[in-house]
Amino acid sequence: MIDLHCHVVFGIDDGPATLADSISLMRASAANGTNTIVATPHVSVRYPNNAATIGALVAEVNEGATAEGIPLKVLTGAEIAMTRAAELEREELDALALGTGRWLLIECPFAPVATGLEALVMKLQGDGYRILLAHPERCPAFHREPEILTSLARGGVLSSITAGSLVGRFGRQVRDFAFELFQDRLAHNVASDAHDAVKRPPGALAEIEESGLAALADWLTEDVPAAILTDSEIPPRPGIAVPFASPRRRRRWTLGR
Ligand SMILES: [Fe+2]
Repeated sequence: MIDLHCHVVFGIDDGPATLADSISLMRASAANGTNTIVATPHVSVRYPNNAATIGALVAEVNEGATAEGIPLKVLTGAEIAMTRAAELEREELDALALGTGRWLLIECPFAPVATGLEALVMKLQGDGYRILLAHPERCPAFHREPEILTSLARGGVLSSITAGSLVGRFGRQVRDFAFELFQDRLAHNVASDAHDAVKRPPGALAEIEESGLAALADWLTEDVPAAILTDSEIPPRPGIAVPFASPRRRRRWTLGR
């Protein structure tokens, strides 16, 4: 598995505090089937990180993984808050892209309105970047107005769902919305958004399987991420039925009890 969203580097955001914590996370990640992690520390007002710092820490955790015999590699990246993405210079954005490609992981706001998101996306796309949204299923603005996400997707924006959302770690509303995105073909990737080895752990394959999405696992965690990292065409989703009950059916069933 390629994990496109993981707070694996230490000491600069709400992820691991020390190199030892990063190593624990990487060990758990490898044990859960991950062979490539993109380090995506927050780049935001609260965590004003930059590409130089992230690059140095990625080198350090890779050395740690090698020393510990953990069979995975870590690439550079970032989870960029909307507000910061609008301010950063091209050179910095280039260095914060996922791997060495053109895709930026943009954090969806945890707010009821996403003022400026569409304009920001259009500007970044105009500058030659491609946009992967981090956990849109957790964004209240998309719960209120899912058509914004539909419109963004029509413009080529992809969505990365957090594995824990699929199994209710962020509540029922987030879980149900995540399933709606799958049914509407608006979910293109599942990533861990891991912050440590235990509380917000790495891996995504168990959650995908538990959600009845095992038939999409390779596309979600290998094919799409590989295309993103190599700036290749995104492969079409396999033409298989998504085998789970719709949130609407689940809600009716709940009401009928
Ligand atoms: Fe994150």
